[in-house]
Amino acid sequence: MKQEHIIYGGDYNPDQWIRTKEIWSEDMRLMDLAGINSATVGIFSWSMLEPREGEFDFSWLDEVMDMLHVHGKKAILATPSGARPVWLAKKAPEVLRVDESGVRNEYGVRHNHCLTSPVYREKVRLINRKLAERYAKHPALFMWHISNEYSGECHCELCQQAFRDWLRREYHNDIDELNFKWWNGFWSHNLSSFDEVSSPKYRGENHVPALKLAWNRFVSDSHISFLENEIAPLREITPDVPVTTNMMRLFKGIDYRKMAEKLDLVSWDSYPSWNNTDNTEEGNAIAFVHDLFRSMKGGKPFFLMESTPSIVNWKPVNPLPQSGITELSSIQAVAHGADSVQYFQWRASRGGHEKFHGAVVDHTGTEHTRVFRDAAKIGQVLPKLDAVVGKETRGRVAIVNDCENAWATDIFCGFFSENRDYDGVCTAWHKPFWKRGVPTDVIESDADLAPYDLVIAPFLYMLKPGVADSIRRYVGGGGRFVATELFARVDRDDLCFLGGFPGEGLREVFGVTAEETDALPETERRAVRYNGRDYAAHTVCDLLRADGAKVLGTYENGFYAGTPAVTVNGFGKGRAYYAAFRGEESFIDDFCADLIEEIGLTGVWPDQLPDGVSAVERGDLVFLMNFTSEPKRVPSSGTYRNVLTGDTVSGKTELPPFGYVVLTR
Ligand code: GAL
Repeated sequence: MKQEHIIYGGDYNPDQWIRTKEIWSEDMRLMDLAGINSATVGIFSWSMLEPREGEFDFSWLDEVMDMLHVHGKKAILATPSGARPVWLAKKAPEVLRVDESGVRNEYGVRHNHCLTSPVYREKVRLINRKLAERYAKHPALFMWHISNEYSGECHCELCQQAFRDWLRREYHNDIDELNFKWWNGFWSHNLSSFDEVSSPKYRGENHVPALKLAWNRFVSDSHISFLENEIAPLREITPDVPVTTNMMRLFKGIDYRKMAEKLDLVSWDSYPSWNNTDNTEEGNAIAFVHDLFRSMKGGKPFFLMESTPSIVNWKPVNPLPQSGITELSSIQAVAHGADSVQYFQWRASRGGHEKFHGAVVDHTGTEHTRVFRDAAKIGQVLPKLDAVVGKETRGRVAIVNDCENAWATDIFCGFFSENRDYDGVCTAWHKPFWKRGVPTDVIESDADLAPYDLVIAPFLYMLKPGVADSIRRYVGGGGRFVATELFARVDRDDLCFLGGFPGEGLREVFGVTAEETDALPETERRAVRYNGRDYAAHTVCDLLRADGAKVLGTYENGFYAGTPAVTVNGFGKGRAYYAAFRGEESFIDDFCADLIEEIGLTGVWPDQLPDGVSAVERGDLVFLMNFTSEPKRVPSSGTYRNVLTGDTVSGKTELPPFGYVVLTR
């Protein structure tokens, strides 16, 4: 893929305006005014491309593709499987989803297809093939956008059969192996054949954790094989055109990392909940997600496929962000590794479900709006940042956020059922690094740990095969690994490790045994003293016995006062830390600050950053971003050039509310 400029564009639906084509030429004029260089087309266009079965009409898309090319814009061309034509659902109801109560959906909405249906897969392959054949040589074709936000599941009989076949492969066609690994002797749940298995259901089996895990894996694999089915004709006909699909924020219905292996690049749709007062928390939360998507391809750039230029229409209340926030949000994406800034949507639709969703061009249809002016400003800024295109970023710190562990921590019954909040806990452990400008990756538990000076695995309850060995090798070789509450309790089928926690031999690495786990009611706190300071533990506390580890912190009240709460163990050339409880923010911050100092990690900004300001480096550029509504003064001991104004910066940098600067040394 040849890309020189940051892609600036978004979802564009000229097919909705086919009766008023003068709007298409107006779109081109307005796109030029706003600095837009790309458009994502055809996402939900199947009924316009194949109005009746086998009758294809590409004439309008031909015109759109030509028009984009003439106006110097790249086309990100979508495959239309996210919403199907009515004729297909009427002809072959098997393409429609069945919910867990066994009832088949009627035609309607979108994202409502069976993942297994051979009919649907064949029809999707056909329309994708037609698109690829038609536009393979078209000069505007830049990238394939596969379907839209894959999600959901289907419980039809085809899917049940596919699930059983999937289980046969997973468990070596041996039902006794499955019975053992699922612990089916419990409540007399032993199965005598794979044919007896059904998907987890509200009115059926929903108390076998390993079944739920297997179902999640199966659904995820079904999406991935559906994706592969979509991609096959595209790769065959347009091997040089990259493929991506738009993913969602911390969505766990699909193991995105496995899906990413099938894509040329990762892209995601970012809809932060910005407010007009203080976005420090959301700033970190979104940084965490950007870091996660960037890490999926080892630090390679990703695409911001959708974001709103103003409001969304799907929250209970959709407040307007003040000017500057969309710009900051876009710049943050680029800083963290995005090679694009794209909106949902270019022009507001006139009717339908999303007509009041924010758009660059609203129903007035002109450039004389606040939102348009804001978008046009971003259109002027982005070309000045083209130096980052293609630039990769790797952190020296990694936070583990593992999809399968997210499933497992959601499913198990015990200790506490509210506020499990796996992603929230991981995000909280990311924040100390974010606020100090220390580049951080977000990786899966079985990723290669070797590149990192520090790996933190919050609430890593499940160990996938090989993970214990990888932690042992990493620490033995000199790495620093931090584990927290309920670490290493179960294997991938949710079977508890025997012989003491953390399991799989990790007691030796951490020098502790986690003997019991205490859950705290919402209002209760446990006092912890760590490194001479006092903190509060909440939600969950492991009770540790030190078997050689050095105790860095102890519980201070309750019947286990005086027992270890924070430990470190030297193992091989490295150190394994256990922070045994869910800690308040000040604990996580101080604990990580100590690690940063001990390891000698440095942030990308040499001076102390004020609260709410983040510093991110990409290529030769340093981005300083203010997520608060207060102006901030950032001390600056180095001398820099402001890339946007050309000014020299030294001594200090002023950041207006929700403002940013981009600097180079
Ligand atoms: C996304 C979706 C878009 C649009 C948008 C509205 O999740 O991919 O098609 O619906 O939300 O915010």
